[in-house]
Amino acid sequence: MDVILVGYGRMGHEIEQVLVERGHRCVARIDPKASGADARSLEEASAAADCAIEFANGEGVVDNARWYAAHAVPAVVGTTGWEAERDTVREIVESARTGYLWGANFSVGANLFFALVEAAGVLLDRFEDYDAMMFETHHRHKKDSPSGTALEAARRLLRVHGRKSDIVTEALQRPIEPHELHVASMRGGSVPGVHELTFDSPFDSITIRHSARTRAGFALGSVLAAEWLAGRSGFFSVDDFFADRLQG
Ligand SMILES: NC(=O)c1ccc[n+]([C@@H]2O[C@H](COP(=O)([O-])OP(=O)(O)OC[C@H]3O[C@@H](n4cnc5c(N)ncnc54)[C@H](O)[C@@H]3O)[C@@H](O)[C@H]2O)c1
Repeated sequence: MDVILVGYGRMGHEIEQVLVERGHRCVARIDPKASGADARSLEEASAAADCAIEFANGEGVVDNARWYAAHAVPAVVGTTGWEAERDTVREIVESARTGYLWGANFSVGANLFFALVEAAGVLLDRFEDYDAMMFETHHRHKKDSPSGTALEAARRLLRVHGRKSDIVTEALQRPIEPHELHVASMRGGSVPGVHELTFDSPFDSITIRHSARTRAGFALGSVLAAEWLAGRSGFFSVDDFFADRLQG
């Protein structure tokens, strides 16, 4: 595949390596600031590409989606922090009948973590002594908090766990209510990403923990998703792609 990289920061560089390793070509690197970029915006880019992979900034997501739609370029979008624009982007993609696949976390391990969170949520719901809570840690450059991955894991838990109905993300200056799921964040250093779901009882504690070692796992997932998206049209989430992989 000939791929346009949108966002040539830490993730963009990782993805470029994976693209080369898997026999694809990076035909343009779009970034308003990064050195090594071929163009500052998509308007300056050639439209001749089989796919775009975007790991950039949430503020550009809608404009970029308009460009992909107008040029019939399928896009895999890992950029986080644009939940409020989701419906706008869906409308753009569906009216153009192109392919678009977005996700807060493209790593295979993190998607296995989501599956384990759901399974544990079902099991532990039957034992009232166990109370759920979530914690995530990321590097000092991360702009959004909690992480998209933590919020996704929390939403999935709420769907299956009858005793939790609300996500609370702020630092609490009061006791937490039994129906609230606390999702706490810590920022610093170079941590690629740690997510933990703990079920705690008066007797013991069970933790499910996903710890990313490098960004390469996210990059590989995004390239595998781009390969999956080829030839499909529609507004997909990364779940659609991993559901295929997890079901074999
Ligand atoms: N979904 C996932 O699996 C996953 C994994 C890691 C990071 N992310 C997300 O990906 C994004 C990028 O992460 P990063 O660590 O590479 O950040 P980064 O800051 O290293 O790089 C982002 C780059 O995007 C550029 N950029 C900003 N606006 C742009 C635009 N409109 N068009 C093109 N480029 C633009 C910036 O100049 C910067 O070079 C963030 O939103 C992050 O949360 C998602």
